[in-house]
Amino acid sequence: MERFFVAGGYPLRGALHIDGAKNAILPILGASLLVNGPVILHKVPDLSDVHTMCNILQSLGVEIIADKNSFILDTSSLYSHAVPDNLMSEMRSSIFLMGALLGCCGAARVSYPGGCNIGSRPIDLHLMGLRALGAEIEEKHGYIEARAARLVGTEIFLDFPSVGATENIMLAAVKAQGETVIHNAAKEPEIVDLQVFLNAAGANIKGAGTDTLVIEGVRTLHQVEHNVLPDRIVTGTYLLATAITSGEIDLVNTNPAHLVSLIFKGRQMGLDIRYGNDFITVRAPQKLRQVSQIRTSPYPGFPTDLQSPMMVAMTQAEGTGMIIEGIFDGRFNHVKELSKMGAQIKINRRTAVVAGKTPLTSSVVKATDLRAGAALILAGLAADGTTVVEDIHHIDRGYASIEKKLRELGAHIERK
Ligand code: UD1
Repeated sequence: MERFFVAGGYPLRGALHIDGAKNAILPILGASLLVNGPVILHKVPDLSDVHTMCNILQSLGVEIIADKNSFILDTSSLYSHAVPDNLMSEMRSSIFLMGALLGCCGAARVSYPGGCNIGSRPIDLHLMGLRALGAEIEEKHGYIEARAARLVGTEIFLDFPSVGATENIMLAAVKAQGETVIHNAAKEPEIVDLQVFLNAAGANIKGAGTDTLVIEGVRTLHQVEHNVLPDRIVTGTYLLATAITSGEIDLVNTNPAHLVSLIFKGRQMGLDIRYGNDFITVRAPQKLRQVSQIRTSPYPGFPTDLQSPMMVAMTQAEGTGMIIEGIFDGRFNHVKELSKMGAQIKINRRTAVVAGKTPLTSSVVKATDLRAGAALILAGLAADGTTVVEDIHHIDRGYASIEKKLRELGAHIERK
């Protein structure tokens, strides 16, 4: 089992090119099932989740040619609508293959999805939406079987603006008969990227980025070429790593408009943050000020995926701060690991009170999920001595070559 060894105390300096977003490429790969003709994708991030999704698509008969960060997919010899269990359990995102498979094959068979251990992650909204479009869904013996001779557009209201449910319903509705309206849809930039991809392939979708999506079904989707949008969570993670190490970096090929909440909170902490259309420059002060409160919420609220890296930054700021986790009910697993390093954080249900200016000391810690793992690396960058991070396969799901990128910026980190 590989581990990261992180020696703390070295400021990050230099420039970092941001890769395409994990949460954009995964649904787009799923959406490729709906396309007749080649799908050409650029800026594909080199992540284990992307490899898993490609393995799933190949197991269904999709041909994939990968050349560095560009992929060509050909679905013409698709022969199966059943996602293999072992691959499904590796990644929760495979759930939106249901909508895509229903749209292209009229049937889908999946097992219950895996993914990060960050609290209960039901899929009731996904299933409600697919049923509303006319799918017959049976859940038995750990499998979900869905069938629909023809999906028919309808009005759907989501009780919560779930990202995955919005994407799943979009994918099922693209080739449905007539119009589908999704009310209280998720507004995340990755939904916009999915709309851009699908419309470039001939779909008729309006409203992504707002809470109402209108999808007019079309008969076929054709050849398409698409650049994946930059990863806002990876951008935010490196921005916070810079804050923690009193560093100075340029984040290039990114979109600051997708990180308004983080930039606002970062400036409150005393970071000098400047940006243009596609770059962000960050200069950290020697002393970070505390933010009074972080509350994670659906976009454009503060992203839950940056909650754990932000918590590490808050342990290094002057004063006490509070975090309220508004999306997931079990997303404080990193607190136990951070406590081993000397962090003083008190949890009460979904609220964490973080004591600031706490010296962190090296320890052996476990990545309990993807973003928690990244947060532990950040804690290691701030700690005295060498921190060992275990279970790093979680981190590889969402950060491409994180150790190489950090080393190029001056960090001392090894994978062994
Ligand atoms: C996506 C992101 C993930 C991010 C999350 C929230 C991907 C691949 N993953 O996950 O990185 O942390 O959005 O921004 O894009 N819920 C239900 N019923 C459902 C679906 C969701 O109750 O059917 C609840 C969940 O339990 C959770 C909340 O809705 O409390 C948000 O989940 P959702 O937006 O669906 O997140 P994911 O799509 O799983």
